[in-house]
Amino acid sequence: MARELKIKIKIDVLESEKELTEREKLAWNKAKEATENAYAPYSNFLVGAALLLEDGTIHIGNNQENAAYPSGLCAERTALFGKSAVSPFMPIELIAIASRKAFTYKYLQAAPCGGCRQVMTEYEDRQGSPIQVLLQGEGTEIYRLSSVKDLLPLVFNKESLLGAGAKE
Ligand code: THU
Repeated sequence: MARELKIKIKIDVLESEKELTEREKLAWNKAKEATENAYAPYSNFLVGAALLLEDGTIHIGNNQENAAYPSGLCAERTALFGKSAVSPFMPIELIAIASRKAFTYKYLQAAPCGGCRQVMTEYEDRQGSPIQVLLQGEGTEIYRLSSVKDLLPLVFNKESLLGAGAKE
C-alpha cells in the first residue's frame, strides 16, 4: 500500500490591512503603488511587488511585458533581480505583492506564479533566513506566510543538484 505523505503549510489570514504591522503596511502600500508603473499592454494585468529589506529600505518591481511574450518578466522577479543587482547581501524581510486590472483599483486575490516562487526560494536559501510573503486574500483579507517554503513544498534547490536523498 502506498504511504501517504501529507504536507502542511501555514497561512495567517488577516481580516484586513488594519492588522498589518507598520513595516508590513509600508511594503503593502508600496506594492500597490508599484502597479502604477507596470508595463502590461498585452494582458492589462498590473502587478506590483515590494521588498522590505532588513535595513528598512524598500525595493520595488512591476511586471514588464514584451511583444515577444516570453521575453517579459513578472513583478516579483523584476524586484528580486533588481534588488540583488544593487544590494545583494542585505537580507529581505518580506515581499508584498499586489495585482489589479488596468483602469481599476480593486486589488485581486492572486498568488505568485511558479517561476517566481522558484526565484524567491533561491534568494531565501541564499540569505539563510525566511522571507515573509504578503498577498491579497479573499475580500479584505490579507494572507501572510512566514516563509517562501510555504509557497513551494517539494522544492528544487541547490541540495537537489547535489543529489540529496539519492538512492544507490
Ligand atoms: N505576473 C506577475 O507579474 N507575477 C505573477 O506572479 C503572475 C503573473 C504578470 C505576468 C504578466 O505580465 C501578467 O501578470 C499576466 O500574466
